Parts: sequence; C-alpha cells; structure tokens
Amino acid sequence: MTETTGHDRVRAVQWQGDHLRLLDQRRLPQHETWIECRAAGEVASAIRDLAVRGAPAIGIAAAWGAVLAARAGAGAFNAELAMLRGARPTAVNLMWALDRMATAAHAGHDLALEAQAIQDEDLAANRRMGELGAALLGQGTGVLTHCNTGSLATAGFGTALGVIRAGVAAGRIAAVYAGETRPWLQGARLTMWELARDDIDAILIADSAAAHLMQSGAVQWVIVGADRIAANGDTANKIGTYALAIAARHHGVRFMVVAPASTVDMATADGEAIAIELRDADELLTWAGRRHVVAGARAWNPVFDVTPASLIDAIVTERGVIACPDPQRMQTLFGDRDA
Ligand code: MRU
Repeated sequence: MTETTGHDRVRAVQWQGDHLRLLDQRRLPQHETWIECRAAGEVASAIRDLAVRGAPAIGIAAAWGAVLAARAGAGAFNAELAMLRGARPTAVNLMWALDRMATAAHAGHDLALEAQAIQDEDLAANRRMGELGAALLGQGTGVLTHCNTGSLATAGFGTALGVIRAGVAAGRIAAVYAGETRPWLQGARLTMWELARDDIDAILIADSAAAHLMQSGAVQWVIVGADRIAANGDTANKIGTYALAIAARHHGVRFMVVAPASTVDMATADGEAIAIELRDADELLTWAGRRHVVAGARAWNPVFDVTPASLIDAIVTERGVIACPDPQRMQTLFGDRDA
C-alpha cells in the first residue's frame, strides 16, 4: 500500500456478481446503508434520486445498469439504456459510459468485463491525476474544495479530492477547507465524512464564507471536479463553482479543475451548450424534510453552473495538465474524442 492509497478507504459502487450494491449517499453521514439494484430501472432511480452521485460514479453505476439490462433479455436493452441515459442531464460521464457499453454490446463483448474496465480505469485515472495535480501545489498550500469529488463520487480516490489526498500525503497541503455545498450539502455531509474516515483534517465553511476566506490569504488554490468540460475548456460543475472562480481570480487564488477524460465532451463547443440540471424547488424550500420557507414562496434550483475557461488556471486530467485552457490546448490533448 502506498502512502496515498492509505488515504482512501471508501468504495461506494460495488458489483456483487449478479447485482449492484450502492452506498446510499442520501443518508450519509448519519447512516451507512446500502441499496441493492437488481434491474437497470433500479440503477436509473438511484442515479436520479442521488443515492449514487458524482460524475464518474454515475457513469460507472450506469455501466453496471447496462449489464443488468442485458441480462434481463435483449428485447428491452436499448430502451433500458435510454432510460439510464435520461436519469441526469449534465454529467457527460453517464452518456460516455453508456455509449461505451452500447458499442461493446454491438461488438458482442462481455459487458461485465467492459463495466469493470470502466471502473478500474477510473481509479487508475484518479491516482494519476492526484500525482499531476499535487505537483502543482507549493509547500504549505491552503486549499478550498467544493461539493464531493472523492471516493464516493468515483471508483475511488477521487478527482479534486484525489489531488488533495495526494497533496496531503506529499506534505504539501497545510490546510483543507470544504464548502458546505448548498442545497444538498455534498461538502458538509460527504466530503467531511470521507476526509474524517481517512484521517485528513478539514475545516468546513459556509459557501458564502468562501470570498472572505480567500481575502484572508488562507488558501492559494481552489480545487474542484467537473461534470462536463466543453471543447473550449468551459467547465460545468456543482452550483457555486463559478462564484468561487470569480472570487479566486479577484484575490489572486489559483483555480484547478480535476477530471478524467471521460468528463471531456469535445462534441460540445462551449459552456453555453451544456444542459444544466434543474432540481425540485423542495430541495431549497424544505430542511430535513420540513418546510422552512413561507407557504406560497417559489424557488429556482439549478444544481450546476458553468465556469468559463478564462477563469481556470489548470485542468488536470490523466492525460496531462492543460494550463490556461483554450480550444487549441484542449484539441491537442483530446482531439481524438471529436464527435
Ligand atoms: O449533483 P452531484 O452531487 O452529482 O454533483 C457532483 C459534482 O458536481 C462533482 O463536483 C462532479 O460530479 C465531479 S465528481 C468527481
């Protein structure tokens, strides 16, 4: 075991040979319960309802959903793939994984081997990105992250959280701050839980404290994941990421996006073309299942936003680092993924 693998103990998506076992992320950190999916429809529901979430984990779960669909009989395979594809709109890893499974099915390949390859490749990509991203950090760096991009959101180790794990293991990181990530609290509930389990000290902040934190000089890098990176480097990620990037540029704090090649969508020219998921207003109007906003009030709940490439200092992928991303630099690394 290397020092960095010691900081990585969670596996949230587990294939059991005949069904998929998912750590139910809606119930963390109070309850560590698992759900068992035996049909593609159950996997689609788990993705839609955020039992499994995070772009790479969604793709991996969907790949196993395709295995379940194929085992249920060839007749409904394409319809079940379409149902899985429609579970969430923004994370392109979902579509990428299902396209890969459809191609494998068409070629007559073993679908379980393909799904396992998708899962294994993600873990390997995360470890590589961890090394590449941590190498960008100076000694004694303070970092701020957003949402949850760790083992819960991936096959393991994580993207942005993988860089933080690797940076901590290398002794480069002096302080880790995590934004709570309203309204679903991925940062407060999931990132803090994951880091505590792995003995990484972290400090929670309200999302609205981020600019003040940057002004204080306590952080030198904001490190986030991505749900879809367009061909010009514009990046969709959890709502609030764009505000962090604006504040970071204003304060001279550097901004790093960490995502595997499966999150890059060269068929989408720029951020304007990325579909942004709108979720139920109740996520804002209720708290712990109880309404806390005046009756009749309405709410607008986009759960992702787009950070323009011009605000990003580095995109870290397993293929390498793109500094100051632009269409040409994206093309150089990902040209083979054109539509
Ligand atoms: O709505 P979620 O929790 O699925 O959103 C997750 C994020 O926005 C993550 O930052 C992104 O998927 C990268 S996870 C490695």
